[in-house]
Amino acid sequence: MESTIQSREIAPRSSEAMDSQLSKLGNHLITKFHVLMRISQIYDSKNVALQQFIQESLQAINTFIRREGSLCLKIMADDIFLNERRLRYSVEGFTSFKYLLTQWKKRFIGEILYKEPLDEETLGTFIYILMGLEEGREENAALFSEKLKEHHISSIEVGPLEVYETEEGIYPRKKEDSREVAKKVFFETIGTVKEVITHIKGRQHADVRKLKRLIRKAVHLIMEDESILLGMTTIKNYDEYTFNHSVNVAIYSLAMGRRLAFSRSVLSELGITAMLHDIGKSKIPLEVLNKPGSLDLEEWGQMKKHPLTGVEIVLNLKQLGEVNPKMVIGIFDHHLKNDLSGYPKLFRQKRVSLFGRIIQIADAYDAMTTPRIYKKVPYTPEQALAVMLKERDVHFDSILLKMFIGLVGVYPIGSLVLLDTHEMGIVFKPNTDPQWMDRPQVILIDRDARGKGKKERVDLAEGDGRGHFRRSVMKTLDPNKYHIDIGKYFAGKDGD
Ligand SMILES: [Fe+2]
Ligand SMILES: [Fe+2]
Repeated sequence: MESTIQSREIAPRSSEAMDSQLSKLGNHLITKFHVLMRISQIYDSKNVALQQFIQESLQAINTFIRREGSLCLKIMADDIFLNERRLRYSVEGFTSFKYLLTQWKKRFIGEILYKEPLDEETLGTFIYILMGLEEGREENAALFSEKLKEHHISSIEVGPLEVYETEEGIYPRKKEDSREVAKKVFFETIGTVKEVITHIKGRQHADVRKLKRLIRKAVHLIMEDESILLGMTTIKNYDEYTFNHSVNVAIYSLAMGRRLAFSRSVLSELGITAMLHDIGKSKIPLEVLNKPGSLDLEEWGQMKKHPLTGVEIVLNLKQLGEVNPKMVIGIFDHHLKNDLSGYPKLFRQKRVSLFGRIIQIADAYDAMTTPRIYKKVPYTPEQALAVMLKERDVHFDSILLKMFIGLVGVYPIGSLVLLDTHEMGIVFKPNTDPQWMDRPQVILIDRDARGKGKKERVDLAEGDGRGHFRRSVMKTLDPNKYHIDIGKYFAGKDGD
């Protein structure tokens, strides 16, 4: 099912072509950095040969930044990631790769981000600070940042090498830490969306570069383990609905995009589109947005304009770089409904775009499962899916909806379930084997402690050694009735 959708809807060739173009560019860049680092160790900063080489390198670096909005090089284990995409090195590029990896690792530098095009002086200063760092000092990234500040360089950010130590030496951070990283990305993204929306409301300049960077991180996390970010969507922040909602819709959309085998660059576009799908609402007065009762005709008219207003806003966000038509159309389409009975009204019939159809599902599911001012008790995940299934074809693309249900599971992440052992549990991670969709991993909770105390994680696919399952779901429960704050299990330190 997934592969047919993929071959129909996206052109893998073009994305592959893009990837190979990126890896060529990447190799070119790494070679430039290699030579720069080497030369800087031989010559002083005034040397003519060095100056000339800086100029040449700048051209490659700045062309890339202008095209992609920023340039981020990151080391993870023995790989270099260029803007969150792993670079495959060419045979000729191997020496440069190795050199950069070794030199950065020795200095505990793991990530460098160029946020805007550089000038000669900045690049020169940067290289000399980098190579001047004493080897083996873990605090180098912080020192580096300080030195950049001293030189009034704000267009470059530096991050430490992610490491943990064992007896045999230093290794990149363990995979289990993904949950901590995801949490950071999740909350940082909410904050950034908030900033962007507030700026747009105040007609101020909105900086979306950070948002783009965070989306690339989210794409990376989704590729690694989708259940971690999906778990974050259960953190329903009542006061920050708009921002929280934007991020959740992006997470669900990314997870769907991943199942549709989108490339990383298409995933990033989808993520940004989903994140900004309701940006048009920033122009609607809060009294209308948060009105507890039903909207009158005029208010409803205002509300229906938000997809189109969103398109206008996005087209004006210069830092988004080249705005792909897919993104604009996705925002325009997100309330059209599958049978086009939604809004805006169209003059000419068309099919809802793939981005639009994905966001429609993510949007509806998140809206239904989140408490709102006018609906304090939300649907449980199961109820929401049931409502959506009833409206399939009319409202949603039924194939994508089926895929979405497969994604959140028969028992979606965050569902409260009663087990045949009379224990209560919260679904933590769906079972990826379609045959065992009803056997997710759950956290057992103590009914009296209401989420406090020790939480044991169990796998419902686990047998008892005598051909039976140890535990099975009897039914789902409504967490609102038991006053259980599901989000706490995914946000808190003791969540896992
Ligand atoms: Fe909307
Ligand atoms: Fe929405």
